[in-house]
Amino acid sequence: MFITFEGIDGSGKTTQGQLLKEKLESLGYQVLLTREPGGTKVAEAIRGILLHLDEKIEAMTEVFLYCGARNEHLEKIILPALKKGYIVISDRYYHSTLAYQGFGRELGLAEMKAINSHFINTCPPDLTFFLDIGLEIFEKRLEGQELDRMEKEGLEFMTKVRHGYLEMAAEEKTRIQVIEGSAKIEDIAEKIYLKVKEVLDARS
Ligand SMILES: Nc1ncnc2c1ncn2[C@@H]1O[C@H](COP(=O)(O)OP(=O)(O)OP(=O)(O)O)[C@@H](O)[C@H]1O
Ligand SMILES: [Mg+2]
Repeated sequence: MFITFEGIDGSGKTTQGQLLKEKLESLGYQVLLTREPGGTKVAEAIRGILLHLDEKIEAMTEVFLYCGARNEHLEKIILPALKKGYIVISDRYYHSTLAYQGFGRELGLAEMKAINSHFINTCPPDLTFFLDIGLEIFEKRLEGQELDRMEKEGLEFMTKVRHGYLEMAAEEKTRIQVIEGSAKIEDIAEKIYLKVKEVLDARS
């Protein structure tokens, strides 16, 4: 089973991914928690370019770099773990490109889906949790933190990204679960676990 976490920066993906991993492991499941872009040396190097390099990157270059890192991550980390029977949880996957570049950078959803078709067709997530927060919470959670290149894009950009996620959630109702990210951490974790359990039970 392949689960992804999506949402704008600071929405709680890393927090909830970790809690879900712990919960599932406590029940005896083998779980791999991983994050994008990263997870392999090549992908981490690409991540360094994407998030920390101090030069303007062309929007389409950004797309291809993310996709390059994604393929490394898919082939070397995600697919081998799924083959071994692990539940794989990824902090971001292709919906991030659809939202950030498709909507945030306005390159278009159809165009971004076409470029990501390899991932969409060969390994779509079984479940995607979109942690939705308003922009006032985004600002509050990132206050005082050192911002990466994406986070520096600001409120207008993040608003477009958020709407992109909401639009995709309306389109992919079964896969994408919209979760209110401003709720209490434990309540969100419980909601997420119950949904995962429902899918796991339906499969067994
Ligand atoms: N439900 C919540 N209520 C209050 N604070 C939260 C909640 N979830 C997460 N936080 C806090 O908000 C901050 C961002 O959370 P987290 O790092 O999990 O988000 P993220 O989506 O992984 O962010 P990024 O995209 O920057 O990696 C952290 O300080 C975390 O402790
Ligand atoms: Mg995170």
